Amino acid sequence: MSSEIVQQIKDRLDIVDYISRYVPDLKKAGRYYKACCPFHSEKTPSFVVNADNQTWRCFGACAEGGDVLSFAVKINGWTFAEALRELAQLVGIEFKPSNASQRALEERLDRLRNLLQAVAQAYHRLLMSSHDDHAQAALRYAREKRGFTDDTLRAFLIGYAPLRWDAIYKEMRQVGYSTEDLLAAGVINQNEQGRTYDRFRNRLIIPIRDEKGRVVGFGARALAADDTPKYLNSPQSELFDKSRLLFALDRARESIRAQETAVIVEGYMDAIQAHQVGYTNVVAQMGTALTEEQLKLIVPRYAKKIILALDADAAGQNAVRRSLDVAQRALSDDLGGKLAADIRILQMDDPAGGQAKDPDDVLRQTPHLWPDYVARALPVADFLIQKETAHLPPNATLQERREVALRVLPILSATSDNLYRQDNLQKLALRLRIDERDLLAWAKQMRQEQIAHDKARPRLKLKPSPPRPAPSPETAPDDEPPPLFFDDAPASSEEPPLFFDTDVAPQHTPKPKKTSTQSAPRLPQAESRLASRAAEGYCLRLLLQETSLFFEVRRHFNELAADDEALRRGALAPFGTDDFSQGDYRALMAVLEQALDQIDLSPLDFLRQHADPALSAEIDALLVEEDAWLARPIKGLSSDQMAIYKTLAMRARPPRSRQNDALRRTLEVRRARLRREQQELMFLIREANLSGDGHALASLSEQVLPMLRALRKLDEAIARLHQQL
Ligand code: UTP
Ligand code: MN
Repeated sequence: MSSEIVQQIKDRLDIVDYISRYVPDLKKAGRYYKACCPFHSEKTPSFVVNADNQTWRCFGACAEGGDVLSFAVKINGWTFAEALRELAQLVGIEFKPSNASQRALEERLDRLRNLLQAVAQAYHRLLMSSHDDHAQAALRYAREKRGFTDDTLRAFLIGYAPLRWDAIYKEMRQVGYSTEDLLAAGVINQNEQGRTYDRFRNRLIIPIRDEKGRVVGFGARALAADDTPKYLNSPQSELFDKSRLLFALDRARESIRAQETAVIVEGYMDAIQAHQVGYTNVVAQMGTALTEEQLKLIVPRYAKKIILALDADAAGQNAVRRSLDVAQRALSDDLGGKLAADIRILQMDDPAGGQAKDPDDVLRQTPHLWPDYVARALPVADFLIQKETAHLPPNATLQERREVALRVLPILSATSDNLYRQDNLQKLALRLRIDERDLLAWAKQMRQEQIAHDKARPRLKLKPSPPRPAPSPETAPDDEPPPLFFDDAPASSEEPPLFFDTDVAPQHTPKPKKTSTQSAPRLPQAESRLASRAAEGYCLRLLLQETSLFFEVRRHFNELAADDEALRRGALAPFGTDDFSQGDYRALMAVLEQALDQIDLSPLDFLRQHADPALSAEIDALLVEEDAWLARPIKGLSSDQMAIYKTLAMRARPPRSRQNDALRRTLEVRRARLRREQQELMFLIREANLSGDGHALASLSEQVLPMLRALRKLDEAIARLHQQL
């Protein structure tokens, strides 16, 4: 069971040892360790490792933290299951995936990936040795037409698929791969008569790797002028899922992390070209619209800034439509808002005012201009406003300007971030010379019409990542689903209430009663760690068992923060993933949050489908009845420890109201977290003081008061809830 493995890993692997491997300048000072944060660039340390609690935290730009597993996930870009496997191996625990079918699946995928690696090598050899005319033409195309050096061809393992029906089939059969596996890997096809043949013929082969550099499929460019489609990809499969891949991410991730920016181009060739000339933070889309999953490969673990570099596109009119489309989609899906990403759009107009260019052209003709272009990329909303208003003549009539406003407004107001929206509204007002208040009124009116319209029809929900057919010149702009502007209006349960009673609370709140949680004796380290785990596990369990409680909890946090914006965004932000210091719980909570954000599946079904398979045993364990849960043996715990663990968990046995229980327990978890963070923060402040870095000192000190304010509010709220028992 994974939680046992988690426990065993933590017993054997000290977080300080592990983090030191990645952060060699981690220094001990007093009770803590500090270093410059490995996840963003900074001059004075804001990264703390708490050895007592076996947790880490960044008090700088990333404001994130967790345990040794979440560190491994973040620094290596692993999934939780991968981190579990790697760390288990590191400390010498035999790791068995939780069940036989999962083990079989993983073995199968491994085998197919090995096969694809072998196929990629074979195609590459066929290109480099080029022993027929066609192959020679392919090599000339790669070198001369595309301008690739042999180093590039080798680095990307670019290859050639011969103009034959059975070239790769024969070669792979000969080295021992089965027809079945070759079919499953998408290397060969089978016709209705059952005959098999090579999928790629007379094409330049571009291996597509996952973020870890494992070949999972191919993009194959036609070489003959009349061959269609221009790019033929591997078929969609469990191995090759276009909506979850970004081309060249394996080679780009270090650079994306270092520059804190990722540039996403449209074509494989653009990305390869960029890497060849040294811009290595560039990745390519997969011929489909960008999905949330793809962005999540980058945000937030490597960077928060994403630049979408658009192609010029031949047909002038089409180009505007298509790029607007990209902008609209990013805004109406609110990708930036959901991921807290800074998404910008770049289109490479000729500086002399001429035609727009493809990234590929710029990178080959004027590579030195690339950084300027990247720096000039516009925030999505600005891009949209600029493009939509660009064709308006200076003397445009009110009617003409109103039409533009009516197109742009719904898109702008679909984003969730209020401040952002305000800002954009002002820009639009300025561009259109229309009073902001009029714009607001129009937006409101359209919104009401839309709501009335939605009520009249069954509610549609935009899937998180709508698949989109590969663009082709004729179909690109028109086969898009219309954006569903108001579909993700905030659920009413998440909206703050109209009034708050927290201001008057202090008078009404009697002096906090001494309760066992508040006077908890200082526990020795191991027990205190166990206490965190027990408390967090208890909360997660409650939320899993009754997911509607999650909304109650979030609303309660909102109420507590009231109109204190600093608290609302910081120390009293809605309860969620960051409240968990335990890596496995964090991973589960993150999926639970997504589960509650969609309506296609029940939250638990969503969780089971989307949570890392390594966590499925953990989910089961959390869902069993309470007595069974408490009675389950935990490997690696002595009977004393087990007794303490039970006492800690039992302390919060459901009182009369599950809701009261959920609120209180989540508040307590948050309070424990803030107390921990407060200590760590004070430590960093002392250190910054010693080193005389005024700037760092100021930015750290700023965080203290809100934290204290939050702690006070938490104390009061917890006391209130105890009263209600
Ligand atoms: P483009 O046709 O814009 O690629 O397609 P490109 O790089 O400019 O092509 P070259 O320069 O003529 O070689 C961009 C991406 O769209 C996908 C591929 O992923 C391609 O990299 N695509 C394009 C397909 O999947 N199928 C196609 O038929 C065309
Ligand atoms: Mn191109």
